[in-house]
Amino acid sequence: MNFFLETLRVIGLAIYFTLENFFLLFIPVRKKNVTGEIVLITGAGSGIGRLMALKFARLGATLVLWDISVEGNKETARLARKNGAARVHNYTCDCSKRQEVYQVADQVKKEVGDVSILINNAGIVTGKRFLDSPDAMIQKSMEVNTMAHFWTVKAFVPAMVASNHGHVVTISSAAGLVGVTGLADYCASKFAVVGFAESLAIEMLALGKTGVKSTIVCPFFINTGMFDGCKTKWPRFLPVMEPDYAAERIISGILRNQVYVYIPRSITLLVALKGLIPTKLGMLLGDYMGYFHFMETFTGRANKIEDNKSQ
Ligand SMILES: NC(=O)c1ccc[n+]([C@@H]2O[C@H](COP(=O)([O-])OP(=O)(O)OC[C@H]3O[C@@H](n4cnc5c(N)ncnc54)[C@H](O)[C@@H]3O)[C@@H](O)[C@H]2O)c1
Repeated sequence: MNFFLETLRVIGLAIYFTLENFFLLFIPVRKKNVTGEIVLITGAGSGIGRLMALKFARLGATLVLWDISVEGNKETARLARKNGAARVHNYTCDCSKRQEVYQVADQVKKEVGDVSILINNAGIVTGKRFLDSPDAMIQKSMEVNTMAHFWTVKAFVPAMVASNHGHVVTISSAAGLVGVTGLADYCASKFAVVGFAESLAIEMLALGKTGVKSTIVCPFFINTGMFDGCKTKWPRFLPVMEPDYAAERIISGILRNQVYVYIPRSITLLVALKGLIPTKLGMLLGDYMGYFHFMETFTGRANKIEDNKSQ
């Protein structure tokens, strides 16, 4: 195709996509049916992972629940059955360990089948200023929040590619879009998975595997316990969200094959502004929004890396 024709095609499609996006604000996309789909959720033993499991249970999906916490995962499985799930399979897996991920993934493929919706949700947070963060926690954060995504994708996405059917859901964070004081290692791990998931999605398109979808989720603080103690400066603009609301928004995004899910929606404005405004103005607004002080009152969960080891 010559330059003139290709440019004309791009301009035409750009107008079409812009109009399509505008109309979709008023006509919501139909939700897909996930009955019988095999949904694997990492970090299913508490918080958002558990709530997503319960919502998928009501939608008739087969659940594969992974967590390092045996008890938490068992409890999610029990609640999922109570919520109508016909098939629930729970596996203890430390997602930070590559060989363990591959080994448990093989077991899942033999015992349940090919996973069609992979939700990389397990996450941990150090919650200290970078220079005070223990090396072991920095490393663990990268292993759980980032590298685990590599191993689960390697384990499950080949079958999605082969059937041109599947969905990779990446639970990142608003801290995967903008830097936050007291969250340097967490931000690094969450920025990394945004880059990973975007690249993987583009690879799928380049391969013509349009049936393998991607959803990248970037929420602000959710009241699950992970960020206990943190305060938001302007709760009306950036509220600490209830877990059920966040889980509902995530499920809705997955069912509509939404590529980015920003929770609350005002995060979209922050992302757009970041690329447009001068850096000094960005810092001024960041300070105004409380970015410099969110983590000062952080207590978090008591059980960190040491407790996880004993589970
Ligand atoms: N809570 C928030 O404010 C918030 C905001 C933005 C993004 N997120 C992200 O959402 C996801 C879920 O967070 P949550 O608030 O439900 O936290 P949570 O602590 O309630 O749940 C995290 C789960 O991951 C599990 N886990 C931890 N390390 C693991 C490992 N090595 N292998 C397997 N499982 C492991 C934990 O046992 C736990 O069940 C995380 O990725 C988190 O970073 C949370």
